[in-house]
Amino acid sequence: MRAMVCRHLGAPDALRLEEVESRPLNPGEVRVWVKATGVNFADSLMISGAYQVKPPLPLIPGLEAAGVVSEVAPGVKTLAVGDRVVGLTSWGGYAEEVVWTEERFLKIPETMDFTTAAAFSLTYGTSHIGLIRRARLKAGETLVVHGAGGAVGLAAVEVGKKLGATVIASAGSAAKLVLARDHGASHLINYAEEDLKQRLLEVTNGRGADVIFDPVGGAAFQASLKVIAFEGRLIVVGFASGEAPRIPANHLLVKNVDIIGLFWGGYKRHDLKDLRASLEEIMTWWRAGEVKPYIGRTFPLAEAASALDYVVSRRSAGKVVLKV
Ligand SMILES: NC(=O)c1ccc[n+]([C@@H]2O[C@H](COP(=O)([O-])OP(=O)(O)OC[C@H]3O[C@@H](n4cnc5c(N)ncnc54)[C@H](OP(=O)(O)O)[C@@H]3O)[C@@H](O)[C@H]2O)c1
Repeated sequence: MRAMVCRHLGAPDALRLEEVESRPLNPGEVRVWVKATGVNFADSLMISGAYQVKPPLPLIPGLEAAGVVSEVAPGVKTLAVGDRVVGLTSWGGYAEEVVWTEERFLKIPETMDFTTAAAFSLTYGTSHIGLIRRARLKAGETLVVHGAGGAVGLAAVEVGKKLGATVIASAGSAAKLVLARDHGASHLINYAEEDLKQRLLEVTNGRGADVIFDPVGGAAFQASLKVIAFEGRLIVVGFASGEAPRIPANHLLVKNVDIIGLFWGGYKRHDLKDLRASLEEIMTWWRAGEVKPYIGRTFPLAEAASALDYVVSRRSAGKVVLKV
């Protein structure tokens, strides 16, 4: 089978298309013929050695992949050859086939195409678990989403809206803000042109935001700390700006603020049951037309390096997917 392989840690152009031998299945494992695979900012961190999970080299990246079950090992109970699934892989998705244990795969609705399925699990799963389990977002609260035109940001806008929050989107371009508006944001702030702190105070009538979902870090995080409401919750999702902020503890004390860490992938190890239940719920929302993953661009598998560069260089909007 063909795969995009990283043999040396580095930038996206470290990825090379190679012929890789398929390995036999161990008991409980499933082989999936990949049709589409999600491109994530985190893939760039993993192949540069900056990600929290550090698989050995050579490495095939890819945190999610959608396709058809082509083989099941003895002991597999819930899946059969021909099932259409999405895989919650920890790596390996940038390939024509992927092998993981059966509980890492979920069946997808008959009407969900593979490109949508590949754009679904990581971003919507992160937003769902982040906003419900971690931040305890309630209907009627104000939710700020930074990087709201990016993959996880846009999903958080939709999930927040579905949960009944008033969503304030912040992003660095007018086009990304229009996208966020079309996916449910009520207020738009362009942090490349406007004073983020000032505008957040204006939009919340000086009260501040109840929940802030931050995949950007840096200046966006610093402004967030200043405009979070009393008993507000600030979710640390990522540092797309390249800057992991330092947190002055006195700010937390004064306003009874929770700073909440979020690593969706951590639930694969610590609570896979809840992670799967979270995705099942979002699939129900998808069937009802309440969330609509936006796929900004697709690339062929062989162009994975360009696809990943497109994401990290801030040109992408919504999700980027590799067609395999
Ligand atoms: N904690 C978790 O479980 C989890 C899950 C998913 C993702 N993440 C993290 O969340 C972050 C975003 O992931 P994603 O897949 O949504 O990526 P993405 O689609 O590239 O979105 C990131 C957004 O960040 C903004 N940004 C601001 N400064 C940037 C910079 N210097 N370079 C690049 N982007 C910049 C960009 O929006 P503007 O151009 O509008 O500023 C971009 O749309 C990453 O750090 C990723 O690792 C974490």
